[in-house]
Amino acid sequence: MKLLIKNGRVINPAEKRDEVTNVLIEDGIVKEISKDITEADKVIDAKGCIVTPGLIDLHVHFRDPGLTYKEDIETGANAAANGGYTTVCCMPNTKPVVDCAEVVKYIVDKAKEKAPVNVLPVGSVTKGMIGKEVTDIEELKAAGICAISEDGKSVMDSGVYREAMKNAAKLGVPVMAHCEDINLVQGGVINLGEKSERYGVKGISNAVEDIIVARDILLAKETGATLHLCHCSTKDSVTMVKEAKEDGVKVTAEVCPHHFAMSTDDMTSDDANFKMNPPLRTREDVDALIKGLSEDIMDVISTDHAPHSAEEKARPITEAPFGIVGLETAVPLTVTYLLKPGHITLMQMVEKMSYNPAKVLGIEKGDISVGKVADIAIIDVNKEYTVDVNTFKSKGRNTPFDGMKVFGEVKHTIVAGNVVK
Ligand code: DOR
Ligand code: ZN
Ligand code: ZN
Repeated sequence: MKLLIKNGRVINPAEKRDEVTNVLIEDGIVKEISKDITEADKVIDAKGCIVTPGLIDLHVHFRDPGLTYKEDIETGANAAANGGYTTVCCMPNTKPVVDCAEVVKYIVDKAKEKAPVNVLPVGSVTKGMIGKEVTDIEELKAAGICAISEDGKSVMDSGVYREAMKNAAKLGVPVMAHCEDINLVQGGVINLGEKSERYGVKGISNAVEDIIVARDILLAKETGATLHLCHCSTKDSVTMVKEAKEDGVKVTAEVCPHHFAMSTDDMTSDDANFKMNPPLRTREDVDALIKGLSEDIMDVISTDHAPHSAEEKARPITEAPFGIVGLETAVPLTVTYLLKPGHITLMQMVEKMSYNPAKVLGIEKGDISVGKVADIAIIDVNKEYTVDVNTFKSKGRNTPFDGMKVFGEVKHTIVAGNVVK
């Protein structure tokens, strides 16, 4: 089977390619990139669109096993395909937790059977995510994990975390860190400041994040672990990442679309769809995150796709769970809020949503050079439309972006040569 993608603007950071051309795919592999190819069994006209390596999301919650009323591997992976993603890493805070080979195998097998995209499980740092006893990373790695993380919380015992980091460093497994000092949260639900005061709820200060960012960087420095900081939301996180990189620490950092698309100024109510962890921060923090992205201090854009049921999110903001869905809004939010002068370029967008995530994982993806697997996204960055949660493939509808006018529509998603959207 020969598939030809014609007339698209091919953006491939691995070869610094940015040109309007044609891409020929044969047997799931990129066979040739040339303006001269015209024939194939199937042709996709990508005129006016960008053609990029399939997007890679380092941070999603598919709630499978155990919490499938929120999402499951099939619906989550369908949402990923709908959003332009060809590979996603699913976090281990499921029921049971991904802390042994058996659960990893369950995810790998179900994904093989039901998922249109690549689903890579992330193993937990401690057994049951209780924070006491480290998992057997060697066993988890053999079963198929791509990284370890305690996402949803931090491992508060630094001794336990250091032991896990040492093991991860030895085995070459990245550590994805959710940075939150649980002893400082004290019932906080949104950012500490004007809005927490107005709505009469407890606030989450920047130090809740910053203290653990600092600790985790120091532990990575000491152990030699590869540290990836999840969902950075504060100005000082950016400063610390910059300094750590200058110091030679193996650290990368991600920012989620909601943290650069919205600040606390945009919280028009105390609806629980504005509740996520870390919370929406001030305009000053948002500006620092955008500057960090534009200067490539912040390497990755990931979603923290966190589906919850409508009933759960209808609860008062103090009681509803943290998190919003992200897979089907990441492209339009990035195009709308970052793709402008003084922010980031198209090349940087592709780096942060595909090329860099692949590098963090150390996998041969995020690259559509000749000979590589044909995982591809085709995006019309000029298309304007309105976000409509009813078009989502995710079971989750929990987002504050419903009804918002945006630019940037995913036209097609191709996984190993198969058109999945
Ligand atoms: O908002 C969040 N939701 N942050 C997290 O760290 C966990 C996640 C979830 O699992 O719902
Ligand atoms: Zn988290
Ligand atoms: Zn998360």
